[in-house]
Amino acid sequence: MPSYARALPVNQAVIVAGGLGTRFLPATKTLPKEMLPVVDRPMVHYAVEEAVESGLSHVVLITAAGKSSLEDYFHPNPELERMLAERGETEKLDLVQGLVNAVDISYVRQKEPRGLGHAILSAERLTGGEPFVALLPDDIIAAEVPATRQMLDVYARYPGCHIAVERVAQEDIPSYGIIDPEPVEPRVYRVKGMVEKPPIERAPSNLGIVGRYILVPEIFDAIRRTPPGARGEIQITDAIDLLRREGCPVYVYEFEGTRYDAGTPLGHLKASVGLAMRRPEFGPALRDYLRGLLGEAER
Ligand code: G1P
Repeated sequence: MPSYARALPVNQAVIVAGGLGTRFLPATKTLPKEMLPVVDRPMVHYAVEEAVESGLSHVVLITAAGKSSLEDYFHPNPELERMLAERGETEKLDLVQGLVNAVDISYVRQKEPRGLGHAILSAERLTGGEPFVALLPDDIIAAEVPATRQMLDVYARYPGCHIAVERVAQEDIPSYGIIDPEPVEPRVYRVKGMVEKPPIERAPSNLGIVGRYILVPEIFDAIRRTPPGARGEIQITDAIDLLRREGCPVYVYEFEGTRYDAGTPLGHLKASVGLAMRRPEFGPALRDYLRGLLGEAER
């Protein structure tokens, strides 16, 4: 029986952080993109936090050569912790220890940058034949209920693969995986087809894939059988579509929340401002500053 015949418990997240980050050069020449801070924590922190807050207990972090700072970030730092404890800085201590203690993280390195599908394939052994959530840390989603949690709740009703989507502007269509949707219920669509980074005139809709997926273990074999696609890379979109054509139901879900693409300089600025605005310690001062700045610009 294929694993998508019924909804199985999902306990693990695969976080894909193996890319070269070329959209963020020169910073990413030495700093992994996923370690770029958004307000006061690195991008990857938000992804791990979303997994934990969605009830997942095991994270597989896919990294690559030159990215060991990602592993260090999720490793205890006894010296720093002792110093903070001695100084009575308990809030900072909680910040430093919180996520590290909340989750069990395994690491695997993508051996060559051959695309998102290829990266996810590196997690095969560590996911132990169970369904998992894949998260792309570039996509930071601010939401009352974490987007991953929202998706898991939909998955419980519709076994299969699930992908998060949002409506994208026409000019942005060629940057996304685009869905050919069939409505099922509000916010949920069954997928009739999907295409990675199509030209605008060949896009079946404006529903663009956002970096959250629930995938079944059959995906690994499908990835192995997926030839290079858009940009000459092995695309997860193509592998999921192959699985769909072979009988696996695939759904997309329009999550509730605000998504930032923090993987480009402009998107990263928007994410920093947007997320800082939501923080009580930064929001009011930042709002005043921006008002002043905009006022000056208009004068
Ligand atoms: C990846 C996916 C694409 C998706 C996008 C969302 O593309 O391949 O389907 O729409 O993430 O962020 P990338 O941005 O890595 O080129």
